[in-house]
Formats: sequence, structure tokens, C-alpha cells
Amino acid sequence: MIETLQMKQNISLKPFHTFGTSVKAAKYTEIKSKYDLQDLIPVQEPFLVLGGGSNILFTKDFEGLVIHNKIKGVGIISENDDEVILQVGSGENWHALVLWCIENGYAGIENLSLIPGCVGAAPIQNIGAYGVEFKDVFHSLEAIDLQTGSTKIFNYKDCKFDYRDSIFKNELKGKFCITSVSICLSKKPQFNTSYGVIKDVLDSSGEELSLKSISNAIIKIRSEKLPDPKKIGNSGSFFMNPIISLTQFSLLKSKFPNIPIYPVGDKEVKIAAGWLIDNLGWKGYRNGDAGVHKNQALVLVNYGDAKGLEIWNLAKSIQISVFEEYGILLETEVNIL
Ligand code: EPU
Repeated sequence: MIETLQMKQNISLKPFHTFGTSVKAAKYTEIKSKYDLQDLIPVQEPFLVLGGGSNILFTKDFEGLVIHNKIKGVGIISENDDEVILQVGSGENWHALVLWCIENGYAGIENLSLIPGCVGAAPIQNIGAYGVEFKDVFHSLEAIDLQTGSTKIFNYKDCKFDYRDSIFKNELKGKFCITSVSICLSKKPQFNTSYGVIKDVLDSSGEELSLKSISNAIIKIRSEKLPDPKKIGNSGSFFMNPIISLTQFSLLKSKFPNIPIYPVGDKEVKIAAGWLIDNLGWKGYRNGDAGVHKNQALVLVNYGDAKGLEIWNLAKSIQISVFEEYGILLETEVNIL
């Protein structure tokens, strides 16, 4: 039996995004396969492909079509004694995939445990945490052109990965829907514990080094620092860590000797935006139901009934105060709609 896509009108998006603000979509449909997607092509009205909704702030109702990605499935494309290549439906939950890989002894994404969202979003913003970025395991992806319906395979170079960035946030923004993602994982793991705090947590847990123990350590670190979106609305880091020249940094360092940095090549450094915001006293700030998380100043939160616009106004106040103090313009990591 051929099922036709169900189109709904005036649907609340509150359950479908992790900030949990009350917003509506004029039109809404779910896709369970790439064939469902073909039924919508060419997409002519304003549209939004929504995955886990974990990196988005709606400042108003969405006056177009929300295409909710529910494309599932995990399969092995190839494997040998050393590695395995998996093809994963873009609507699969990221953390569930991480746990499944750990169970099967496939290494490479354990440091990316507990990142909310779905698999299709991982390449778009090149998710990263605790010394690992998604691009490190990327093999290829399949995406569909939303105007022509043609399928295109993107290899590593095509994606133009960078820090929380890819071609899908730039030249190809809104042009393709990613339907599946292939990743290459190792069967002979080399554990990545370079991010100091992982080692500390592992040592104190007494657990032996394994994919599972690294994942457990990261789950512990993240749960202590980052609010659980099921309890307090948020989208993880709201801003990106800014990258500035060494010259600008040496001026800043003379005024703020404790700024934490991460090296980037030999001409630039990445600054911890959380520190910049925290140092200005924003951590724990609350205005109505919009606030700055008490343990991580980079995370903005919705304590209940905040409006998207209130969170966005708070974000802009933080941007202004950071710019006035340090001369640095913070860019949002979260997509603002
Ligand atoms: N810091 C403060 N005050 C704060 C927050 C941070 O002083 O309120 C300091 C910390 O003490 C530390 C430094 O800033 O010295 C960095 O903090 P943290 O290790 O928490 O990492 P981050 O730079 O704030 C980035 C990612 C996170 C990722 C962690 C761990 C970005 C924008 N954020 O945060 O990713 O989990 O590193 O690798 O790159 C996300 O993208 O949503 C996200 C949570």
C-alpha cells in the first residue's frame, strides 16, 4: 500500500525542539524515508528540515513548512579486521548511535557521548567535544537536492568541515536534505583522553580504560556541567568559541591573564567564550524564565515559559557586554529563526 504524506496545519513545535519555547509551524509533515522527501520536491514555500531540534532558537512562529526528519536505520556497508563503515539514517538519535557503537566495539565517537540531536545534524555543524570532532570519523553522506530531487554523495573534501562549520551552513544552506551519513570506525581503538578532565574522572572512578568507561566519564562530565534539555530548555553552547589572532590575544592576555585558550595553528587561538561571559558576571543570571546556566555561562536556558525573543534579547545583551569589555564579537552556534 502506498502511504501519502500527512500534512498538518498550525502545529505546536514545543515538543520538537530542546529550548522548549511555545511556537507553531504553519505546516508540518514527517518524512520516514528519502522517498517521502521526493513527494515534497520541489519545495517551493519557506521550509525547515528539523532533526532533533537541539540547535535552534525560534524567535517567532514558523510561517512555512516544517519537514521533520524521521529517517531511520543503521547498516554496515563494509568491514575488515581493522575498521567498519556504517551507513546511518539521518533521523537516528546521535547518542543512541554512540551507545550502539560502543556495544559493538566500534571506536571513534565515544567522546561525543550525550550530544543531543540526530545524526543528520552532526556533519552540518561538525559536532565536537572532548578532543574529538565528527569530521574525524566522517566517510561520506547522501543528500537530496530540495529543488531538483537529485541525489548527491558528498565526500570529506566536499563538506568543507571546520570548527562547528561545513558547506551546509554556508554555500549550500537550505539547499539539500541529508538523508544518510556514513562513518568509519575502528575495531582496534586508540582511546582519546587528551582532554584533561576525562583522565581525572576515569582515575577517580577506578574503571579500566575502555570505550564504555570513556563514554561513562563523558556522560558524567556533561551531566554535571550542562543542563538536561528534558528538564531545563537549552541548546548546549549558545555561542561559538571565538578565534582571534595571536596579536589580539597578547593584548587581551595582559589585561586578563587567566583567559583559557585552545591553540589553532600558529597564528591564531581559540578563546573560551564561557570564561569571557562568566568573567562579566553573567553566570546564573535570570530574567523571568530566560537565563544563563549556573554551571556553564555559554549555555542559555529556558526555565519554563520564556519566549524565544526573550532568550534572543538576553543573547544580544551578552554579545554587547562581551564586545564592550574584550572587543570580541561572539557568533551564535545556535541557529536563530
Ligand atoms: N569556563 C568558565 N566559565 C564558564 C564556562 C567555561 O570559566 O561558565 C572555562 C572553563 O573553566 C574552561 C574553559 O572555559 O577552562 C572551557 O570550558 P569547557 O571545557 O566547559 O568547554 P567550552 O569551550 O565552554 C566546548 C564546546 C562544548 C563541548 C566542550 C567540551 C563550543 C562552543 N563548545 O565548550 O560543546 O562540550 O567544549 O569539549 O565549542 C556544544 O557545542 O553545544 C557544546 C556543549
